[in-house]
Amino acid sequence: MFKMHCMIIACLLAVAAQRVSSSELVPFTKVAFATARRAVCLDGSPGGYHHSAGSGDGARNWLVYLMGGGWCADIATCQSYFNETRGSSRFSRFENFTGILSPDKHINPDFYNWNRIYVVYCDQSSFLGDSEVNGPEHKVQFRGSKIFDAVVEDLLVKGMVVGKNVILSGRSAGALATILHCDGFRARLPIACRVKCLSDAGFFIRAENVPYADYREQFFASTITLHKISRFLPATCTKRMDPNLVKNRLVPDSSPDWERWEMCSNNLSFCTSSDKQLITDFGDAFFKGVRRILKNPSGGMFIDACYIHSVAYDERYWSPNSTVKLGNLVSFFLYLQNNVNS
Ligand SMILES: *[C@@H]1O[C@H](CO)[C@@H](O)[C@H](O)[C@H]1NC(C)=O
Ligand SMILES: *[C@@H]1O[C@H](CO)[C@@H](O)[C@H](O)[C@H]1NC(C)=O
Ligand SMILES: *[C@@H]1O[C@H](CO)[C@@H](O)[C@H](O)[C@H]1NC(C)=O
Ligand SMILES: *[C@@H]1O[C@H](CO)[C@@H](O)[C@H](O)[C@H]1NC(C)=O
Repeated sequence: MFKMHCMIIACLLAVAAQRVSSSELVPFTKVAFATARRAVCLDGSPGGYHHSAGSGDGARNWLVYLMGGGWCADIATCQSYFNETRGSSRFSRFENFTGILSPDKHINPDFYNWNRIYVVYCDQSSFLGDSEVNGPEHKVQFRGSKIFDAVVEDLLVKGMVVGKNVILSGRSAGALATILHCDGFRARLPIACRVKCLSDAGFFIRAENVPYADYREQFFASTITLHKISRFLPATCTKRMDPNLVKNRLVPDSSPDWERWEMCSNNLSFCTSSDKQLITDFGDAFFKGVRRILKNPSGGMFIDACYIHSVAYDERYWSPNSTVKLGNLVSFFLYLQNNVNS
């Protein structure tokens, strides 16, 4: 009897080890007791994640990746997302793990066999907030911080608490969340060996005199007010600056400017001289912002100059042959070293 059990287990292991395809469809897991913990999406459905278990020498390594997807700044828009993945988990079934989450050693040599977790983004305020508003038709919940807490707690129980290497990462709105949650995340892993944060397109600057950014400033201010998230922002920042002063990006949102910009960002020969000036001005403003952070002597950063919004979940940019490299190192697009031994 015992022998047969062993054979079945050996068989299962053989199947599990046979992950040769370049991507992987990973099922959705709801956080435990989501409603009781208020870890819910805009529409009240449970928050959650997709987890592909680590194996081999990656079994004790964890990569937690926060999905992005903008923000919603007014109640009608937030409510309109009830019918989409960005506001509800009702549509979350399987996620196709690619790029930095790929199970393929050739595409993703550093993380392919880690525990890889894709956290569904359905709160629309960068995994911050814990409030609710009665909309015209439905109650809308802003529980981003609760979703983040519940996901992290569930993963700690699944073994992350004794992780060897743990990375918190994310793109866009999830990359902003990565920066804002980095220190708190690290604090919850006191016995993990190494904890790092990798923010992929999440450093949104305060840029003066940059066209298109004005309406964005208003957009952020409204998001912060609606979701009541000021209190979740680092006090060291909000004591010194108005939390509303942040801008999303310099790219126009609508046609025809947007299409022109798309061409320019793919091939500089399509940029007008004023586009190029805009890029230069943005670069200057960006570095001004970055220098403020670099005053912290234990911090370091690698920044590249791609004209794209996030790279790590996109195999056009995330594979050994296509990514930007620094010497022999694969680039991390905005790498915040978090006061930890490196
Ligand atoms: C969601 O879709 C259903 C069916 O299309 C529609 O009846 C409902 O009004 C939509 N809900 C929201 C909040 O947009
Ligand atoms: C998953 O993503 C990969 C890489 O982008 C793609 O080749 C593949 O077709 C996708 N699979 C599914 C089922 O969508
Ligand atoms: C990367 O390039 C090498 C050498 O050209 C090639 O052998 C390999 O298959 C490529 N890998 C991927 C994932 O495209
Ligand atoms: C950019 O566009 C120009 C003009 O169409 C073309 O000659 C050039 O090959 C393009 N460059 C790249 C890198 O695609």
